[in-house]
Amino acid sequence: MWPRTILITGANRGIGFSILQALATRSPPDRYLLAARSTENGELAIRELRKLGVQAEIHVVELDVANESSIKRAEREVRKQYGRLDILINNAGIAILEKPDGSNIQESYAQTFNINITGVALMMATFLPLMKESSPDARIINLSSARASLHLSSTGNLPPSRVISYSVSKTALNALTVEYAKTEPTVALYAASPGHCKTAFNGFRGTKDPLDGSKVIVELALAEKGRYENGFWQMEGDENEASRVPW
Ligand SMILES: NC(=O)c1ccc[n+]([C@@H]2O[C@H](COP(=O)([O-])OP(=O)(O)OC[C@H]3O[C@@H](n4cnc5c(N)ncnc54)[C@H](OP(=O)(O)O)[C@@H]3O)[C@@H](O)[C@H]2O)c1
Repeated sequence: MWPRTILITGANRGIGFSILQALATRSPPDRYLLAARSTENGELAIRELRKLGVQAEIHVVELDVANESSIKRAEREVRKQYGRLDILINNAGIAILEKPDGSNIQESYAQTFNINITGVALMMATFLPLMKESSPDARIINLSSARASLHLSSTGNLPPSRVISYSVSKTALNALTVEYAKTEPTVALYAASPGHCKTAFNGFRGTKDPLDGSKVIVELALAEKGRYENGFWQMEGDENEASRVPW
């Protein structure tokens, strides 16, 4: 079983970087694949992780989730170099502010869905065969958001979304996670809500350190097999286990 191989998309900065830092600190025997669309930024991130005391094995995998050839090339590289993939963390994601006059709605929806949905669907379809062949405990964790929750949004628990295309894309991501869970009974499939984290994504206006935001992902990745059912999970405040987010 050991070492597991764990791949995180968009791991050169933001929450993805913190997920890698937290996972590699908690479980140093595992092997980490830092996927980034720029190899140079990936290498810089590894140097930063070393300065933070991370000693685990980490390799950069060049991967642009908006590019199907790049995803397929990355899968061939992972298969050839490491021969296995145990945990796939689909973290890369974007939001594009819609202009008040509505002039960039088409661009905003097309780009956001291309990365947040099509990219994740391609990642799962491309890497699932290797995961199922090679891992006795395969897990996929998709970075969702409280904004994805139709229950929270429709019961007055969240203010109106400032970027509707983003919120809608995360609801669609949850639907994608549910659909894959129906057809992949041997793989654990999670949507995870990190909370509002201080990253470039929101101009560093979030309320949580991204390391705190990464806690739920670390918990879902490292908990003993079967501890968490497929579903939508978060970890807030001082909780030491994940709790469900309503769909
Ligand atoms: N921040 C929050 O409060 C918050 C809350 C809920 C959910 N989330 C979710 O958490 C995830 C990470 O967000 P973040 O706050 O860490 O964002 P971020 O700081 O903007 O980082 C985004 C990461 O995604 C990468 N990325 C963007 N487009 C890509 C592509 N086509 N292919 C590969 N990688 C790509 C970026 O790479 P480059 O450096 O090359 O641009 C970067 O590494 C997203 O899915 C987001 O929706 C964030």
